[in-house]
Amino acid sequence: MTIKELHDLKGKVALITGGARDLGLDAATVLAEAGCYLIITSRKIENARDTAEKLNGLYSCDVMPVSLDVCDYNNVAEVFKIAREWKGHLDILVNNAGGNVGTGPAHLFERAPEDMVQMIMTNLVGALYCCREAGQIMANQGFGKIINIASIAGMVGRDRRMYQRNNMKGQPVDYSAAKAGVIGMTRDLAGLLSPLGVHVNAISPGGFGPRELPQGFYRDYSDRTPLGRMGTDKKDLKGAILFLASPASDYVTGHNLVVDGGFTIWK
Ligand SMILES: NC(=O)c1ccc[n+]([C@@H]2O[C@H](COP(=O)([O-])OP(=O)(O)OC[C@H]3O[C@@H](n4cnc5c(N)ncnc54)[C@H](O)[C@@H]3O)[C@@H](O)[C@H]2O)c1
Repeated sequence: MTIKELHDLKGKVALITGGARDLGLDAATVLAEAGCYLIITSRKIENARDTAEKLNGLYSCDVMPVSLDVCDYNNVAEVFKIAREWKGHLDILVNNAGGNVGTGPAHLFERAPEDMVQMIMTNLVGALYCCREAGQIMANQGFGKIINIASIAGMVGRDRRMYQRNNMKGQPVDYSAAKAGVIGMTRDLAGLLSPLGVHVNAISPGGFGPRELPQGFYRDYSDRTPLGRMGTDKKDLKGAILFLASPASDYVTGHNLVVDGGFTIWK
């Protein structure tokens, strides 16, 4: 196969949860450029519509905006039914919705139990619901690529002094628990679905910034990273998404692709 064929996604349908902004938008953008039809989900339909319009203007691809709360199973089931009916197939799912949700304290001893549950619901259970629905559609087709966005938080513990020094609340332990769950789920689901033609992989990004982060934190984090910087939006996640969505990764399943500038290799 040529390099072009290895990355050709012409006519494939990709659904990206939380695809209206940041890393989800980066995933949507690279998949649009590679030829996909897109389904962009956001909890607020107007955000999904804005992004759909922009991507359609830039790449002249069909983009369907949909409202989706991944924590609501009935909503998830309904959205995947619509997704399947749109073009008659669903080829790629990027399970991106999540993040460090909520405004409460991050420290375990002060953390409200309902905030912990919400974190796990959004980052793990929501992704599992989407895998359930997409997995069935893809297994019936005999083809599919599921990409779960995990995090290095699911792989290593954090040096919280870096956050304290920069007056930041840091990451709750339940975020790490959820993302470790996503990595485990990816592996086991790959075992279940790969014989049916469905590839299941994860991407574990390191910190992306600077966004709104304090300069001191950006410096500290960069200093702790072999490649000397945080991940850059609009660039650093795109290659991993394209690889795992395209024929270039046709012999890769159950993998956790770490995109962290080497953060997790330095002890
Ligand atoms: N930014 C980073 O440094 C980083 C690092 C590692 C992993 N990640 C992961 O990458 C993914 C995207 O992160 P981001 O930085 O772009 O975050 P973000 O907060 O900018 O975007 C997250 C998206 O998820 C959506 N979302 C949140 N709760 C939802 C729900 N219940 N239902 C549907 N959508 C919901 C948000 O609306 C948003 O569109 C997340 O899963 C995050 O955990 C991010």
